[in-house]
Amino acid sequence: MKVDGSHYRTIWYNEEDGVVQIIDQRALPFKLIVEDLPTVDDVALAISEMHVRGAGLIGATAGFGMFLAALENPETIEEQAVKLKATRPTAVNLAWAVDRQLKAINNAQTPLDKQKVAFQTAQDIANEDAAACKKIGEHGLQLIKDIATKKDGPVNILTHCNAGWLAFVDYGTATSPIYAAHEAGIPVHVWVEETRPRNQGASLTAWELQSHGIPHTIIVDNAGGHVMQKGMVDLVLVGSDRTTVTGDVANKIGTYKTALAAKDNNIPFYVALPSSTFDWNLEDGNQIPIEERNPDEVTAITGLHNNEQIKITLSHPNSPAKNYGFDVTPRRLVSGLITERGICNAEKESILNLFPQSLSSGLPPSTRNV
Ligand code: MRU
Repeated sequence: MKVDGSHYRTIWYNEEDGVVQIIDQRALPFKLIVEDLPTVDDVALAISEMHVRGAGLIGATAGFGMFLAALENPETIEEQAVKLKATRPTAVNLAWAVDRQLKAINNAQTPLDKQKVAFQTAQDIANEDAAACKKIGEHGLQLIKDIATKKDGPVNILTHCNAGWLAFVDYGTATSPIYAAHEAGIPVHVWVEETRPRNQGASLTAWELQSHGIPHTIIVDNAGGHVMQKGMVDLVLVGSDRTTVTGDVANKIGTYKTALAAKDNNIPFYVALPSSTFDWNLEDGNQIPIEERNPDEVTAITGLHNNEQIKITLSHPNSPAKNYGFDVTPRRLVSGLITERGICNAEKESILNLFPQSLSSGLPPSTRNV
């Protein structure tokens, strides 16, 4: 997507300097910083410390990490694969990308061939992610069009966290239909839930939307139900970090409450995801591993003060905190899944109608024990 007129992806290989580069998302929305990732260890740190985040981008970054592993020492790629998979547990794209790389690298014979195939696979994973997100935009656009024809004024869409282009390689999932609608001249307005504790909504989604001139308003997470009750939301669009083959959806903490409020107010609640986010081996959302992060993300908050990013404490040091990164929205609350192959119901039969080969091919592989 464009930032100040220049096209950016969230990750790329800089051929000239021979280095993997990313946008360091910790500095947004205040600064656009490009960071070099020269080694596998740098890649692992960038994922675990959330310089990059979002299911698709985590997968693409791990794909490039495996390329660097093949460059560093093809003999140790199995160890490096374990290290990369351990960086974050919930988004299934991570293990999916690492396993895809392992298979490709192990099939190659010489060290040079292993490096070549790892490079090509990393590029393929990134390109396929971008292409899938673009398709999601085309399919999701119809939902917005349908609403637009039945009302005056903008279509009001509520989203949670950041399932925008920053969470993928390009376009995003939840935001892709919004960008497509904006381009098609359909007036849209987006309610952006701030998404405590790390505020991906306020700092990333809102930044994306303002960069593209899309009208939006940031609200605290607790206000989502209120704006729905007041008739100010036509559609909820969110992303997913892992979706079971039966349609249960793990997404950023707070999504479940947003889905409950949408159900109570008869507002369609759609989840947009590329097929790399399905866990074809899981039937029950309760089995999805939920990441727990450092409690200081809850008891402190980061922001800009005198042009410097600082962290301030919110609570008494004696008060313990828990930091659950994700929750699971059961399929009964999901109106539909927007994928690169079209829209389906959040149920096994409908999902497998769109992706008939997936169960037998075992792709993406099980990551239940990651
Ligand atoms: O913890 P994060 O920022 O990596 O969480 C991922 C997310 O941004 C959300 O859960 C998002 O809605 C889906 S990921 C594409």
